[in-house]
Amino acid sequence: MRTAILISGRGSNMVALIEAARAADFPAEIVLVAANRPDAGGLERANAAGIATASVDHRPFGKDREAFERALDEVLRTNQVELIALAGFMRVLTPWFVTRWQGRLINIHPSLLPDFRGTHTHARALEAGVAEHGCTVHFVVPELDAGPTILQANVPVLPGDDEASLSARVLKQEHRIYPQGLALVASGAARLEDPAAASA
Ligand code: GRF
Repeated sequence: MRTAILISGRGSNMVALIEAARAADFPAEIVLVAANRPDAGGLERANAAGIATASVDHRPFGKDREAFERALDEVLRTNQVELIALAGFMRVLTPWFVTRWQGRLINIHPSLLPDFRGTHTHARALEAGVAEHGCTVHFVVPELDAGPTILQANVPVLPGDDEASLSARVLKQEHRIYPQGLALVASGAARLEDPAAASA
C-alpha cells in the first residue's frame, strides 16, 4: 500500500514507520512525507532517509480548512497515495477530508482512548491520578480521536513522574505499536468496516 505520513513536527513516529517499512515483507511502502509546516523538523529526517517530501503550508489558507485540505489532497493523489498515517499532524481535519479517506486514514494518539481525547494528554493523565496511561493507534473518523481502536499499549504511571518522564515512556510504546498498526491496516487485517477485526 502506497502510504503517506503527515507530520507537523519532529517526526519520531514517522522515523519508526519509515524504518519498519524497510523490511521486505512489510505491507506498506512509505512513498511520501508531507507537512503543514515548511519548518517541520521531520521533513529533513525524511529527506535524509531518502523519502519524497512535500510541504503544504496551512497559513495562506487562513480559516478555510477545506481549501488547505484540497491542496493537500491534490499532493496525495499526485503521489498515488492509498493510505495515510498521521504522525503528530497538528491540524484537525474536516469531515470532507476524513470521509474522502475513511478506512485509509489512521492516527497515533498519546493516551488510552477513549480517555484523554485532544491535547495535553500526559498532563491530564497526571492530573487525573490514573495508574495506567498509554497510546492508541486508531482509524480516523470525523469526530476527534473517536475512531475505532486498532492497537493500544499501556504503561504504568510511576511515583515522581512528570510530563517529560511519562511522555517519554509512552513515546517508546508509540514507536513500537504504530508500525504494527500500520501493517495491520495495509495488509487488510484491520478494517474500519469491521470493528471486530480492527480490535483483533
Ligand atoms: C506523539 O506523541 C503522537 O502521539 C502525537 O504527537 C506526538 C508526535 O511526536 N499525536 P513525533 O512528531 O512523532 O515525534
